[in-house]
Amino acid sequence: MASNREPQKPRPIGEIPQAADDRFSTGMGELDRVLGGGVVAGSMVLIGGDPGIGKSTLLLQAFQKISRDRPVLYVSGEESPHQIKMRGERLGVDSRNLLILSETSLEEILKTAQSMRPRAIVIDSIQTVYTAQITSAPGSVSQIRESAAQLMVHAKQTNTPTFLVGHVTKDGSIAGPRILEHMVDTVLYFEGDKGHPYRILRAVKNRFGSTNEIGVFEMKSLGLEEVSNPSELFLSERPSNTAGSVVVSSIEGTRPILVELQALVSPTNFGLPRRMAIGVDPNRVSLLLAVLEKRAGLQLQGQDVFINVVGGMQIDEPAVDLGIVAAVASGFRERPLDPKILVLGEVGLGGEVRAIHQPEVRLREAAKMGFKQCLLPERNRARLSGVDGIDLIGIGTLRQALENLFGK
Ligand code: TYD
Ligand code: MG
Repeated sequence: MASNREPQKPRPIGEIPQAADDRFSTGMGELDRVLGGGVVAGSMVLIGGDPGIGKSTLLLQAFQKISRDRPVLYVSGEESPHQIKMRGERLGVDSRNLLILSETSLEEILKTAQSMRPRAIVIDSIQTVYTAQITSAPGSVSQIRESAAQLMVHAKQTNTPTFLVGHVTKDGSIAGPRILEHMVDTVLYFEGDKGHPYRILRAVKNRFGSTNEIGVFEMKSLGLEEVSNPSELFLSERPSNTAGSVVVSSIEGTRPILVELQALVSPTNFGLPRRMAIGVDPNRVSLLLAVLEKRAGLQLQGQDVFINVVGGMQIDEPAVDLGIVAAVASGFRERPLDPKILVLGEVGLGGEVRAIHQPEVRLREAAKMGFKQCLLPERNRARLSGVDGIDLIGIGTLRQALENLFGK
Protein backbone atom coordinates (compact mmCIF):
# COMPACT_ATOMS: atom_id res chain seq x y z
CA MET A 1 0.00 0.00 0.00
CA ALA A 2 1.47 3.38 -0.96
CA SER A 3 1.93 5.85 1.82
CA ASN A 4 3.20 9.38 1.81
CA ARG A 5 5.04 9.12 5.12
CA GLU A 6 8.70 10.04 5.53
CA PRO A 7 10.97 7.01 5.29
CA GLN A 8 11.86 5.78 8.78
CA LYS A 9 15.37 5.40 10.20
CA PRO A 10 16.26 2.84 12.86
CA ARG A 11 16.97 4.36 16.28
CA PRO A 12 17.98 3.10 19.71
CA ILE A 13 15.07 1.76 21.72
CA GLY A 14 15.89 4.02 24.66
CA GLU A 15 15.37 7.12 22.51
CA ILE A 16 11.89 6.24 21.37
CA PRO A 17 9.46 8.46 23.25
CA GLN A 18 6.86 6.67 25.30
CA ALA A 19 3.50 6.90 23.61
CA ALA A 20 0.68 7.87 25.89
CA ASP A 21 -1.74 4.97 25.84
CA ASP A 22 -4.58 6.54 23.94
CA ARG A 23 -7.58 4.69 25.33
CA PHE A 24 -11.13 5.38 26.29
CA SER A 25 -13.59 3.44 28.39
CA THR A 26 -16.56 1.72 26.79
CA GLY A 27 -18.55 2.33 29.95
CA MET A 28 -18.79 -1.44 30.42
CA GLY A 29 -16.18 -2.58 32.94
CA GLU A 30 -16.21 -6.19 31.79
CA LEU A 31 -15.58 -5.21 28.16
CA ASP A 32 -12.85 -2.71 29.13
CA ARG A 33 -11.13 -5.38 31.17
CA VAL A 34 -10.95 -7.83 28.26
CA LEU A 35 -9.68 -5.11 25.94
CA GLY A 36 -6.82 -4.50 28.37
CA GLY A 37 -8.28 -1.39 30.00
CA GLY A 38 -10.52 0.26 27.43
CA VAL A 39 -10.57 0.81 23.67
CA VAL A 40 -7.25 1.81 22.07
CA ALA A 41 -7.44 4.54 19.42
CA GLY A 42 -7.10 3.13 15.91
CA SER A 43 -7.32 -0.47 17.06
CA MET A 44 -9.08 -3.20 15.15
CA VAL A 45 -10.98 -5.71 17.25
CA LEU A 46 -12.54 -8.92 15.94
CA ILE A 47 -15.40 -10.36 17.96
CA GLY A 48 -16.28 -13.95 17.13
CA GLY A 49 -18.97 -16.20 18.44
CA ASP A 50 -21.82 -18.53 17.56
CA PRO A 51 -24.87 -17.00 15.92
CA GLY A 52 -27.35 -15.86 18.55
CA ILE A 53 -24.83 -15.73 21.38
CA GLY A 54 -25.22 -11.95 21.77
CA LYS A 55 -22.51 -10.23 19.72
CA SER A 56 -24.84 -7.62 18.24
CA THR A 57 -26.46 -7.06 21.62
CA LEU A 58 -23.09 -6.52 23.31
CA LEU A 59 -21.87 -4.05 20.70
CA LEU A 60 -25.14 -2.15 20.57
CA GLN A 61 -25.08 -1.70 24.34
CA ALA A 62 -21.41 -0.73 24.37
CA PHE A 63 -21.83 1.71 21.49
CA GLN A 64 -24.78 3.38 23.17
CA LYS A 65 -22.38 4.22 26.00
CA ILE A 66 -19.46 5.17 23.74
CA SER A 67 -21.72 7.52 21.79
CA ARG A 68 -22.34 9.72 24.82
CA ASP A 69 -20.29 12.66 23.56
CA ARG A 70 -19.48 11.84 19.93
CA PRO A 71 -21.28 10.01 17.12
CA VAL A 72 -20.49 6.37 16.48
CA LEU A 73 -21.27 4.33 13.38
CA TYR A 74 -22.96 0.93 13.53
CA VAL A 75 -22.89 -0.74 10.12
CA SER A 76 -25.17 -3.72 9.78
CA GLY A 77 -25.22 -5.91 6.72
CA GLU A 78 -27.29 -8.57 8.40
CA GLU A 79 -30.25 -6.78 9.86
CA SER A 80 -32.44 -3.96 8.62
CA PRO A 81 -32.49 -0.69 10.58
CA HIS A 82 -35.98 -1.72 11.79
CA GLN A 83 -34.69 -4.94 13.24
CA ILE A 84 -31.89 -3.10 14.98
CA LYS A 85 -34.37 -0.54 16.25
CA MET A 86 -36.50 -3.33 17.70
CA ARG A 87 -33.56 -4.78 19.56
CA GLY A 88 -32.50 -1.28 20.61
CA GLU A 89 -35.90 -0.61 22.14
CA ARG A 90 -35.61 -3.70 24.26
CA LEU A 91 -32.17 -2.61 25.40
CA GLY A 92 -33.16 0.99 26.03
CA VAL A 93 -30.72 2.12 23.35
CA ASP A 94 -31.81 5.41 21.81
CA SER A 95 -28.75 7.66 21.66
CA ARG A 96 -28.94 10.41 19.06
CA ASN A 97 -25.27 9.79 18.46
CA LEU A 98 -25.69 6.12 17.56
CA LEU A 99 -25.98 6.10 13.80
CA ILE A 100 -27.15 2.95 12.05
CA LEU A 101 -26.09 2.24 8.49
CA SER A 102 -27.54 -0.68 6.62
CA GLU A 103 -24.90 -1.21 3.95
CA THR A 104 -22.69 -3.98 2.59
CA SER A 105 -20.56 -2.10 0.06
CA LEU A 106 -17.16 -1.39 1.53
CA GLU A 107 -16.70 1.70 -0.65
CA GLU A 108 -19.97 3.19 0.64
CA ILE A 109 -19.11 2.32 4.24
CA LEU A 110 -15.72 4.02 3.97
CA LYS A 111 -17.25 7.06 2.28
CA THR A 112 -19.73 7.46 5.14
CA ALA A 113 -17.02 6.96 7.74
CA GLN A 114 -14.78 9.54 6.12
CA SER A 115 -17.44 12.22 6.04
CA MET A 116 -18.86 11.41 9.46
CA ARG A 117 -15.62 10.87 11.42
CA PRO A 118 -17.22 8.66 14.06
CA ARG A 119 -15.61 7.97 17.41
CA ALA A 120 -15.78 4.23 16.71
CA ILE A 121 -17.18 1.84 14.09
CA VAL A 122 -18.90 -1.55 14.24
CA ILE A 123 -19.06 -3.77 11.16
CA ASP A 124 -21.73 -6.40 11.83
CA SER A 125 -20.61 -8.69 10.25
CA ILE A 126 -17.41 -8.70 8.22
CA GLN A 127 -18.79 -11.65 6.23
CA THR A 128 -21.48 -9.45 4.67
CA VAL A 129 -19.12 -6.73 3.42
CA TYR A 130 -17.84 -6.75 -0.16
CA THR A 131 -15.57 -4.54 -2.19
CA ALA A 132 -16.07 -3.84 -5.89
CA GLN A 133 -12.32 -4.21 -6.39
CA ILE A 134 -12.60 -7.96 -6.19
CA THR A 135 -14.86 -10.10 -8.31
CA SER A 136 -15.43 -13.00 -5.94
CA ALA A 137 -18.68 -13.32 -4.01
CA PRO A 138 -19.35 -11.56 -0.67
CA GLY A 139 -18.35 -13.84 2.19
CA SER A 140 -15.50 -15.44 0.26
CA VAL A 141 -12.08 -15.50 1.84
CA SER A 142 -10.55 -12.98 -0.56
CA GLN A 143 -13.46 -10.55 -0.09
CA ILE A 144 -13.25 -10.75 3.68
CA ARG A 145 -9.50 -10.37 3.67
CA GLU A 146 -9.48 -7.38 1.34
CA SER A 147 -12.40 -5.63 3.08
CA ALA A 148 -10.80 -6.11 6.47
CA ALA A 149 -7.46 -4.85 5.16
CA GLN A 150 -9.05 -1.65 3.88
CA LEU A 151 -10.98 -1.12 7.10
CA MET A 152 -7.70 -1.62 8.95
CA VAL A 153 -6.01 1.10 6.87
CA HIS A 154 -8.93 3.41 7.62
CA ALA A 155 -8.75 2.60 11.33
CA LYS A 156 -5.03 3.34 11.53
CA GLN A 157 -5.08 6.47 9.35
CA THR A 158 -7.99 8.10 11.12
CA ASN A 159 -7.33 6.61 14.56
CA THR A 160 -10.86 5.22 14.63
CA PRO A 161 -11.30 2.05 16.68
CA THR A 162 -13.14 -0.52 14.57
CA PHE A 163 -14.98 -3.61 15.80
CA LEU A 164 -15.56 -6.43 13.33
CA VAL A 165 -18.14 -9.08 14.10
CA GLY A 166 -17.17 -12.50 12.74
CA HIS A 167 -19.25 -15.63 12.60
CA VAL A 168 -17.87 -18.82 13.97
CA THR A 169 -18.09 -22.09 12.10
CA LYS A 170 -19.02 -25.40 13.68
CA ASP A 171 -15.40 -26.29 14.38
CA GLY A 172 -15.05 -23.11 16.39
CA SER A 173 -12.92 -20.95 14.12
CA ILE A 174 -14.02 -17.58 12.81
CA ALA A 175 -15.42 -18.54 9.42
CA GLY A 176 -13.22 -18.52 6.36
CA PRO A 177 -10.52 -16.13 7.30
CA ARG A 178 -8.37 -17.41 10.10
CA ILE A 179 -6.15 -14.89 8.43
CA LEU A 180 -8.23 -12.11 10.00
CA GLU A 181 -6.96 -13.22 13.38
CA HIS A 182 -3.42 -12.41 12.31
CA MET A 183 -4.35 -9.04 10.86
CA VAL A 184 -6.34 -7.49 13.65
CA ASP A 185 -4.95 -6.19 16.95
CA THR A 186 -7.35 -7.98 19.22
CA VAL A 187 -9.43 -11.13 18.89
CA LEU A 188 -12.27 -11.69 21.34
CA TYR A 189 -14.54 -14.68 21.53
CA PHE A 190 -18.00 -14.43 22.98
CA GLU A 191 -18.87 -17.82 24.40
CA GLY A 192 -21.57 -19.47 26.36
CA ASP A 193 -24.04 -22.22 26.35
CA LYS A 194 -27.37 -21.22 24.80
CA GLY A 195 -29.11 -23.09 27.58
CA HIS A 196 -27.44 -20.87 30.18
CA PRO A 197 -27.72 -17.13 30.58
CA TYR A 198 -23.99 -16.70 31.27
CA ARG A 199 -21.75 -15.33 28.55
CA ILE A 200 -18.00 -15.13 28.70
CA LEU A 201 -15.98 -12.70 26.64
CA ARG A 202 -12.45 -13.96 26.26
CA ALA A 203 -9.41 -12.36 24.64
CA VAL A 204 -7.48 -14.91 22.58
CA LYS A 205 -5.14 -12.31 21.15
CA ASN A 206 -4.47 -8.78 22.31
CA ARG A 207 -1.68 -6.47 21.21
CA PHE A 208 -2.72 -4.05 23.94
CA GLY A 209 -3.18 -6.25 26.97
CA SER A 210 -3.20 -9.64 28.56
CA THR A 211 -5.01 -12.49 26.84
CA ASN A 212 -6.00 -14.17 30.08
CA GLU A 213 -8.71 -11.75 31.04
CA ILE A 214 -12.33 -12.72 30.77
CA GLY A 215 -15.47 -10.64 31.01
CA VAL A 216 -18.60 -12.24 32.40
CA PHE A 217 -22.12 -11.25 31.41
CA GLU A 218 -25.60 -12.52 31.99
CA MET A 219 -28.16 -12.40 29.18
CA LYS A 220 -31.41 -11.07 30.56
CA SER A 221 -34.67 -10.08 28.97
CA LEU A 222 -33.44 -6.49 28.79
CA GLY A 223 -30.01 -7.25 27.40
CA LEU A 224 -26.62 -8.18 28.76
CA GLU A 225 -25.82 -7.40 32.34
CA GLU A 226 -22.27 -7.27 33.60
CA VAL A 227 -21.37 -9.76 36.29
CA SER A 228 -18.78 -8.17 38.51
CA ASN A 229 -18.67 -11.05 40.99
CA PRO A 230 -18.52 -14.21 38.84
CA SER A 231 -17.77 -16.52 41.80
CA GLU A 232 -21.11 -15.65 43.33
CA LEU A 233 -22.88 -16.38 40.06
CA PHE A 234 -21.10 -19.68 39.42
CA LEU A 235 -21.77 -20.95 42.92
CA SER A 236 -25.34 -19.69 43.19
CA GLU A 237 -27.02 -22.92 42.13
CA ARG A 238 -24.74 -25.34 43.88
CA PRO A 239 -26.69 -28.38 45.06
CA SER A 240 -26.32 -29.11 48.75
CA ASN A 241 -25.00 -32.39 50.04
CA THR A 242 -24.40 -33.92 46.61
CA ALA A 243 -21.55 -36.32 45.92
CA GLY A 244 -19.21 -35.36 43.10
CA SER A 245 -19.42 -31.59 43.60
CA VAL A 246 -16.23 -29.69 44.45
CA VAL A 247 -15.35 -26.00 44.41
CA VAL A 248 -12.06 -25.02 42.77
CA SER A 249 -10.43 -21.72 41.98
CA SER A 250 -9.14 -20.57 38.64
CA ILE A 251 -7.13 -17.41 38.02
CA GLU A 252 -8.51 -15.65 34.96
CA GLY A 253 -6.21 -12.78 34.14
CA THR A 254 -6.00 -10.73 37.29
CA ARG A 255 -9.06 -12.23 38.90
CA PRO A 256 -9.59 -15.39 40.92
CA ILE A 257 -12.88 -17.09 40.11
CA LEU A 258 -14.44 -19.85 42.16
CA VAL A 259 -16.31 -22.45 40.17
CA GLU A 260 -18.09 -25.67 40.88
CA LEU A 261 -16.79 -28.80 39.26
CA GLN A 262 -19.05 -31.84 39.08
CA ALA A 263 -18.22 -35.46 38.48
CA LEU A 264 -20.71 -38.23 37.79
CA VAL A 265 -19.32 -41.73 38.19
CA SER A 266 -21.51 -44.69 37.36
CA PRO A 267 -20.94 -48.33 36.37
CA THR A 268 -20.43 -48.95 32.67
CA ASN A 269 -23.30 -50.86 31.13
CA PHE A 270 -21.41 -52.51 28.32
CA GLY A 271 -18.14 -52.23 26.46
CA LEU A 272 -15.55 -49.61 27.14
CA PRO A 273 -16.14 -47.14 29.97
CA ARG A 274 -17.03 -43.65 28.75
CA ARG A 275 -15.02 -40.63 29.79
CA MET A 276 -16.32 -37.17 29.01
CA ALA A 277 -15.20 -33.76 30.18
CA ILE A 278 -16.75 -30.38 29.53
CA GLY A 279 -14.87 -27.27 30.60
CA VAL A 280 -11.59 -29.06 31.36
CA ASP A 281 -9.16 -30.83 29.04
CA PRO A 282 -10.35 -34.45 28.51
CA ASN A 283 -6.73 -35.64 28.15
CA ARG A 284 -5.88 -34.15 31.51
CA VAL A 285 -8.88 -35.95 32.99
CA SER A 286 -7.76 -39.32 31.53
CA LEU A 287 -4.35 -38.79 33.03
CA LEU A 288 -5.77 -37.92 36.44
CA LEU A 289 -8.06 -40.96 36.38
CA ALA A 290 -5.02 -43.15 35.70
CA VAL A 291 -3.19 -41.56 38.64
CA LEU A 292 -6.23 -42.13 40.86
CA GLU A 293 -6.29 -45.82 39.96
CA LYS A 294 -2.58 -46.43 40.24
CA ARG A 295 -1.66 -44.21 43.21
CA ALA A 296 -4.82 -44.21 45.28
CA GLY A 297 -6.20 -47.60 44.33
CA LEU A 298 -9.63 -46.43 43.11
CA GLN A 299 -11.18 -49.10 40.88
CA LEU A 300 -12.41 -46.96 38.00
CA GLN A 301 -12.00 -49.48 35.16
CA GLY A 302 -15.67 -50.40 35.06
CA GLN A 303 -16.95 -46.87 35.60
CA ASP A 304 -18.19 -44.19 33.24
CA VAL A 305 -16.84 -40.80 34.32
CA PHE A 306 -18.38 -37.49 33.31
CA ILE A 307 -16.91 -34.15 34.37
CA ASN A 308 -18.55 -30.78 33.97
CA VAL A 309 -17.55 -27.27 34.93
CA VAL A 310 -20.74 -25.50 35.93
CA GLY A 311 -21.80 -22.30 34.15
CA GLY A 312 -19.98 -22.95 30.87
CA MET A 313 -16.53 -21.92 32.15
CA GLN A 314 -13.41 -23.33 30.51
CA ILE A 315 -10.50 -23.96 32.85
CA ASP A 316 -7.05 -24.95 31.75
CA GLU A 317 -4.99 -24.58 34.88
CA PRO A 318 -3.23 -27.47 36.61
CA ALA A 319 -4.33 -25.93 39.92
CA VAL A 320 -7.71 -27.62 39.44
CA ASP A 321 -6.19 -31.13 39.19
CA LEU A 322 -6.82 -31.95 42.81
CA GLY A 323 -10.36 -30.62 42.49
CA ILE A 324 -11.04 -32.98 39.56
CA VAL A 325 -9.60 -35.91 41.47
CA ALA A 326 -11.61 -35.02 44.59
CA ALA A 327 -14.82 -34.71 42.56
CA VAL A 328 -14.28 -38.13 40.96
CA ALA A 329 -13.46 -39.76 44.30
CA SER A 330 -16.47 -38.13 45.92
CA GLY A 331 -18.73 -39.26 43.07
CA PHE A 332 -17.29 -42.77 43.07
CA ARG A 333 -17.67 -43.22 46.82
CA GLU A 334 -20.98 -41.36 46.91
CA ARG A 335 -19.65 -39.23 49.71
CA PRO A 336 -20.40 -35.51 49.50
CA LEU A 337 -17.67 -33.08 50.55
CA ASP A 338 -18.01 -30.38 53.15
CA PRO A 339 -19.70 -27.55 51.19
CA LYS A 340 -17.35 -24.95 52.74
CA ILE A 341 -14.10 -26.53 51.55
CA LEU A 342 -11.99 -25.32 48.65
CA VAL A 343 -9.64 -27.80 46.94
CA LEU A 344 -6.42 -26.60 45.27
CA GLY A 345 -3.38 -28.38 43.88
CA GLU A 346 -1.63 -29.81 40.87
CA VAL A 347 -1.34 -33.58 40.75
CA GLY A 348 1.78 -35.27 39.39
CA LEU A 349 2.01 -38.72 37.81
CA GLY A 350 3.64 -40.06 40.97
CA GLY A 351 0.55 -39.12 42.96
CA GLU A 352 2.34 -36.16 44.53
CA VAL A 353 0.49 -32.87 45.03
CA ARG A 354 2.45 -29.94 43.66
CA ALA A 355 2.42 -26.28 44.56
CA ILE A 356 0.22 -23.87 42.64
CA HIS A 357 0.73 -20.19 41.90
CA GLN A 358 -1.03 -17.27 43.61
CA PRO A 359 -2.59 -19.18 46.51
CA GLU A 360 -3.23 -15.98 48.55
CA VAL A 361 -5.43 -14.37 45.92
CA ARG A 362 -7.51 -17.50 45.61
CA LEU A 363 -7.86 -17.88 49.36
CA ARG A 364 -8.94 -14.29 49.82
CA GLU A 365 -11.69 -14.77 47.24
CA ALA A 366 -12.73 -18.00 49.00
CA ALA A 367 -12.86 -16.21 52.36
CA LYS A 368 -15.04 -13.54 50.79
CA MET A 369 -17.40 -16.25 49.58
CA GLY A 370 -17.66 -17.76 53.05
CA PHE A 371 -15.40 -20.78 52.68
CA LYS A 372 -14.01 -22.17 55.94
CA GLN A 373 -11.39 -24.71 54.86
CA CYS A 374 -8.90 -25.21 52.10
CA LEU A 375 -7.08 -28.36 51.14
CA LEU A 376 -3.88 -27.25 49.43
CA PRO A 377 -0.33 -28.37 48.68
CA GLU A 378 1.88 -28.45 51.79
CA ARG A 379 4.51 -26.42 49.91
CA ASN A 380 2.01 -23.59 49.54
CA ARG A 381 0.72 -23.89 53.10
CA ALA A 382 4.21 -23.71 54.58
CA ARG A 383 4.77 -20.30 53.00
CA LEU A 384 1.41 -18.80 53.86
CA SER A 385 1.01 -16.85 57.03
CA GLY A 386 -2.68 -17.68 57.14
CA VAL A 387 -5.85 -16.25 55.75
CA ASP A 388 -8.64 -14.85 57.87
CA GLY A 389 -11.41 -17.31 58.51
CA ILE A 390 -9.95 -20.21 56.52
CA ASP A 391 -8.41 -23.34 57.97
CA LEU A 392 -5.49 -24.43 55.81
CA ILE A 393 -4.86 -28.15 55.44
CA GLY A 394 -1.53 -28.87 53.75
CA ILE A 395 -1.09 -32.21 51.98
CA GLY A 396 1.77 -33.72 50.00
CA THR A 397 0.19 -36.65 48.20
CA LEU A 398 -3.03 -37.68 46.57
CA ARG A 399 -3.53 -40.38 49.20
CA GLN A 400 -3.25 -37.84 52.02
CA ALA A 401 -5.72 -35.60 50.23
CA LEU A 402 -8.30 -38.38 49.94
CA GLU A 403 -7.78 -39.43 53.57
CA ASN A 404 -8.37 -35.90 54.63
CA LEU A 405 -11.54 -35.57 52.60
CA PHE A 406 -13.08 -38.99 53.22
CA GLY A 407 -11.22 -40.53 56.14
CA LYS A 408 -9.38 -43.84 55.82
P1 TYD B 1 -27.72 -11.33 19.16
O1 TYD B 1 -27.04 -10.17 19.79
O2 TYD B 1 -28.62 -11.07 18.01
O3 TYD B 1 -26.68 -12.45 18.77
P2 TYD B 1 -25.57 -12.48 17.62
O4 TYD B 1 -25.39 -11.10 17.11
O5 TYD B 1 -24.36 -13.03 18.31
O6 TYD B 1 -26.06 -13.42 16.57
O7 TYD B 1 -28.49 -12.06 20.35
C1 TYD B 1 -29.59 -12.77 20.09
C2 TYD B 1 -30.04 -13.60 21.24
O8 TYD B 1 -30.04 -12.94 22.47
C3 TYD B 1 -31.44 -13.99 20.94
O9 TYD B 1 -31.51 -15.39 21.01
C4 TYD B 1 -32.28 -13.34 21.97
C5 TYD B 1 -31.33 -13.01 23.07
N1 TYD B 1 -31.63 -11.73 23.71
C6 TYD B 1 -32.06 -11.72 25.02
O10 TYD B 1 -32.22 -12.74 25.67
N2 TYD B 1 -32.31 -10.51 25.62
C7 TYD B 1 -32.16 -9.34 24.96
O11 TYD B 1 -32.40 -8.26 25.54
C8 TYD B 1 -31.73 -9.38 23.59
C9 TYD B 1 -31.55 -8.12 22.80
C10 TYD B 1 -31.46 -10.59 23.02
MG1 MG C 1 -25.85 -10.39 15.21
